Amino acid sequence: MPPTTANTIDLQEIEASLDGFLVRRRGMPDGLLEAMRYSTLAPGKRIRPLLVVLAARAVAGRLGLKTSALNPLPAGCAVEMVHVYSLVHDDLPAMDDDDLRRGQPTCHRKFGEAMAILTGDALLTQSFEVLASSYPGQVAGEACLELALAAGGRGMVGGQVVDLAAEGKLLDGPPPKTLEDLEFLHRRKTGELIRVALRLGWLVGAPLDRRKEAAGWKEELDQFGSDLGLAFQITDDLLDVEGNQDKAGKRVGKDAAKGKLTYPGLLGVEASRERASMISARGRAALKDWGEHGAELRQLADKLLARDT
Ligand code: IPE
Ligand code: IPE
Ligand code: MG
Ligand code: MG
Ligand code: MG
Repeated sequence: MPPTTANTIDLQEIEASLDGFLVRRRGMPDGLLEAMRYSTLAPGKRIRPLLVVLAARAVAGRLGLKTSALNPLPAGCAVEMVHVYSLVHDDLPAMDDDDLRRGQPTCHRKFGEAMAILTGDALLTQSFEVLASSYPGQVAGEACLELALAAGGRGMVGGQVVDLAAEGKLLDGPPPKTLEDLEFLHRRKTGELIRVALRLGWLVGAPLDRRKEAAGWKEELDQFGSDLGLAFQITDDLLDVEGNQDKAGKRVGKDAAKGKLTYPGLLGVEASRERASMISARGRAALKDWGEHGAELRQLADKLLARDT
């Protein structure tokens, strides 16, 4: 990216927290832990956990509190674990068949396909364990529900299905191909995890007895997150066309070769860039009433639009 200097400490805390959750536990095979740590602790941008942290801080700030009601780091780690699982599976031969991720061989290239599938499974399940064991009952239950909805069949997984259908990899029905199909797919495969990161930030940021005051802010964060997520995936599509493998840490130029449905493929590079910028601006506008409390989130949205990694 590089992240804002102000977020350097947040990023260090996120790394330390991820490291702390991925430790040896009774009954867990060493090889599985090694693969989970290999994929998770590799240099990712940590956008989703950072969004949880910043949203929690913004909500607390708007309520006049100095800190978030509950520690946002476990929720950030949970969403990052789901994200890493999605990357490990996305790279598998049956899906995008990639050999490079975060600047190193993909999980299945390093540990074999079976272990990569199981690594994704273990990260996904541990994410819910992290939520359930880190928060009091009500917040834990709500956080698990939100993450499940965003990650599952009507969220990220659903989007991945449409992505592969558009590529002709799934056998049922005509492939999706319109701009409407594309927006649907991007809002799900990438947008939903980004949107739920903000929602988790809301859940841990406001104390239970002050939630009423913060109720309307949930929709504003949803709008911001959903548009940020769509703009983020349009930028990812653009990086596949114009990006640099060494900077991105993954292969580029693969989407067109595979016949993926992408923004630059459908609209061209210039129109895609304009659209990403317009959608990101619309997302930022959803935080117009947040004043200084929304500044960090708005800045991050700006940075993500201009990223080259
Ligand atoms: C890559 O996500 C996959 C998409 C959903 C676009 P990121 O660009 O956030 O990847 P990392 O976490 O930094 O590796
Ligand atoms: C990834 O989309 C969406 C996921 C749910 C992982 P891409 O397939 O475009 O992500 P990259 O380009 O491989 O990171
Ligand atoms: Mg993919
Ligand atoms: Mg991919
Ligand atoms: Mg991509």
